[in-house]
Amino acid sequence: MAFPTQRGRRLRGSAALRRLVRETRFSPSQLIHPLFVRPGSGVENEIASMPGQHQCSIDRMLGHCERALALGLGGVILFGIPDAKDATGSDARSDEGIIQKAVREAKKRFPDLLVITDLCLCEYTDHGHCGALRDGDVDNDATLELLAQSALAQARAGADVIAPSDMMDGRVAAVRRALDENGFERVPILAYAAKYASAFYGPFREAAESAPKQGNRKTYQMDPPNAREAVKEVLMDVEEGADMVMVKPAMAYMDVIQAVKAATQVPVFAYNVSGEYSMVKAAAQLGWIDERAVMMEILGGIFRAGADAVLTYFAPEAAALLAKERG
Ligand code: PBG
Repeated sequence: MAFPTQRGRRLRGSAALRRLVRETRFSPSQLIHPLFVRPGSGVENEIASMPGQHQCSIDRMLGHCERALALGLGGVILFGIPDAKDATGSDARSDEGIIQKAVREAKKRFPDLLVITDLCLCEYTDHGHCGALRDGDVDNDATLELLAQSALAQARAGADVIAPSDMMDGRVAAVRRALDENGFERVPILAYAAKYASAFYGPFREAAESAPKQGNRKTYQMDPPNAREAVKEVLMDVEEGADMVMVKPAMAYMDVIQAVKAATQVPVFAYNVSGEYSMVKAAAQLGWIDERAVMMEILGGIFRAGADAVLTYFAPEAAALLAKERG
């Protein structure tokens, strides 16, 4: 038998060769760091289920913004935790609401930092659902108006990108219309287009204090086994005016990222969510895995599946590692 003329190992023989023929690369500019902001000053509480991530008051959040800029991250996405919650989440649409204040301060101090705002009501409602309730379920069309008002407040505060994550039908169109009618036609929308009803959001709900008091989000977030429906959701959001779309979570949904990438021409984002982060941290703390190697393998996999950018709690750590590898 002839000896193989093709030997896969030839191109794996040195770090230099492996780097030369690497098919997937990513840079800090494609990583977005989620930050949790709450009222007060000097507050920086580590989130028990998300080691290394914090609930911060605005003054401390600015430190994380500064670091994001220094590391060359693509930007930050802000989540607000208000002091007071009510049935319709009014803090989300107040110009003095926590997220609006945070955006104003972040943009004032760091005008070059890309600041994305998560647009949803679950952190602001006393019942913890993503919109106004009627007969025990979220009232889709009544919620659209609340979301539009909240988007306007975020735009007035100076948000660079608005990211609706509520999964109401028609929200992208409603937000786009409100922005356009009020002089914010140049503010882009990053739609959480294919967002699943996932158990991987557990730690986030502790971080954002946004777990639903009753029931779950299955009547509005997508059913995990569905992939073709994700493409449908994405195409609907693009038609309604989404400039960028997102698949969320990422790791158990890489086929969905790939399908969405193939079906659209807009940038595709993926959210490497809280549970995905916490599992790595927990296993690493037990000494069961090599945290940095696993982190880079996961992020590399998400990019290989087709993501153009990734929202991840690993953003600062991964960016620091990328900088070191290059140097
Ligand atoms: C708000 C929202 C959630 C996440 C991002 N935006 C939680 C949810 O839908 O319950 C989850 C992010 C994460 O788990 O890291 N609706």
